[in-house]
Amino acid sequence: MSHDFFAEKAASYEQNPQRVDNVVAIGNAIKATIPLQSGMQLLDFGAGTGLLLQQIAPWVAKITALDVSPSMNAQLRAKAADIGCELEVLELDLTQTPFQRQFDGIISSMTLHHIADIPALLLQFHQLLRPGAFIALADLDTEDGSFHTEDTGVFHCGFDRAEIATQARAAGFVEVQVHAASVVQKPHGQYPVFLLTGRRSTAVPG
Ligand SMILES: C[S@@+](CC[C@H](N)C(=O)[O-])C[C@H]1O[C@@H](n2cnc3c(N)ncnc32)[C@H](O)[C@@H]1O
Repeated sequence: MSHDFFAEKAASYEQNPQRVDNVVAIGNAIKATIPLQSGMQLLDFGAGTGLLLQQIAPWVAKITALDVSPSMNAQLRAKAADIGCELEVLELDLTQTPFQRQFDGIISSMTLHHIADIPALLLQFHQLLRPGAFIALADLDTEDGSFHTEDTGVFHCGFDRAEIATQARAAGFVEVQVHAASVVQKPHGQYPVFLLTGRRSTAVPG
């Protein structure tokens, strides 16, 4: 099994008010931007303890929570009864394990910076979506490396909004937009967070 970078953090993960506030703001940005529907089946990529999906759950039918960390998944499973839709928890590394399913949307909060190859991930997301389905992916704007004070497997010091939007279009997404979602407040600085949205085209290829 790969190293669980969140083993030491999982139990106290939700005790950080700035972290919770950030994900609440991301959830609000998703609800303001994406027309969620009661029949939808969504994937939460890097769901962690479920801070994001628990806000989205009352508006959809089912959420598949995918995370590589056993300790984060254990925290989510412990509160599964309080999640307002059907919940499936999958423990796998999406970058290493074949995963072939079809979803109506993919949501994600603060996980992209843990993934080395973002263009490959966006292509994978595109294949996991039905025609017309959406992505709503939140992460840090480019930062100076001071956001993380511990090693949790970080590959990117945030992202340039224009660059990640271009990568999403190159993966096949249409109606790509980048919204301001949140600002994480830390004692040593403020870190803006964006929400990247887009759709898999409904056009039939070729
Ligand atoms: C910073 S946490 C964010 C958790 C949650 N989305 C939130 O906003 O509170 C990043 C999560 O991504 C997960 N993760 C990192 N790389 C992953 C991968 N390759 N496949 C699946 N999950 C991954 C980590 O285990 C961790 O739970």
